[in-house]
Amino acid sequence: MKKRHIEETKTILREALVAHHPRIAIASSFSPEDNVLIDLALGLNPASRVFAIDTGRLNEETYETAEAIRRRYSLRIEWVFPSAESVQALEREKGLFSFKESSAARYECCGIRKVEPLSRALEGLDAWITGRRQGQGITRASLASIETDSVHGGITKYNPLAVWTAEHIRAYTEIHRLPVNRLVGQGYPSIGCAPCTRAISSGEDIRAGRWWWESPDHKECGLHLK
Ligand code: ADX
Ligand code: SF4
Repeated sequence: MKKRHIEETKTILREALVAHHPRIAIASSFSPEDNVLIDLALGLNPASRVFAIDTGRLNEETYETAEAIRRRYSLRIEWVFPSAESVQALEREKGLFSFKESSAARYECCGIRKVEPLSRALEGLDAWITGRRQGQGITRASLASIETDSVHGGITKYNPLAVWTAEHIRAYTEIHRLPVNRLVGQGYPSIGCAPCTRAISSGEDIRAGRWWWESPDHKECGLHLK
């Protein structure tokens, strides 16, 4: 039996790729969600593009997952880096853990390491695709599958997995034997930069381990602010 959520997602992806390729790319942190997206998109168009922001503070396990994906699909991942000058100035002036000091300092670090590189990654694109889901906390509860990204010049932002549950992701991953970041099995359902991500305990919100010292309604890094 065909699974409806998978068919609906394929339809969204197919239409998005037909309308925009090669001016469309998947943004990937090599989360289980992003790996599902990559698998579906490459199945529809083997030339689908994937970019990833290397903040300089990712976990080793995330790099291993990226490599597993690269090898499995012979995929040329379009890595994007923060400005060396900006990171250099931040670390020289404020040290290596300034993001723990205040929410302004946290947004400064995310701004340099994620948000500015994202705007470069999106240059020349008409659309991008994310692995966000409604089940990922209160900031995403009413997430739509297709949005207009007014922060990035009004390009289209697709969230084809918006209505998928964590169980849908797990089942697809298992059936298709997709690579999984080893941290997921160690209590990390959501993984960002190493120093800003911790494991969660059972019963905790899926994103409780992200910037755990901040309140739940602030758990975005600027990649997805409106
Ligand atoms: S974040 O805003 O809190 O960091 P999250 O980790 O939930 O985001 O990921 C949501 C989506 O943002 C991912 O599915 C992916 O599309 C995109 N994303 C997150 N981190 C990166 C990254 N380092 N590089 C590229 N895309 C990313
Ligand atoms: Fe900096 Fe943490 Fe944001 Fe990564 S998640 S860019 S280390 S504040």
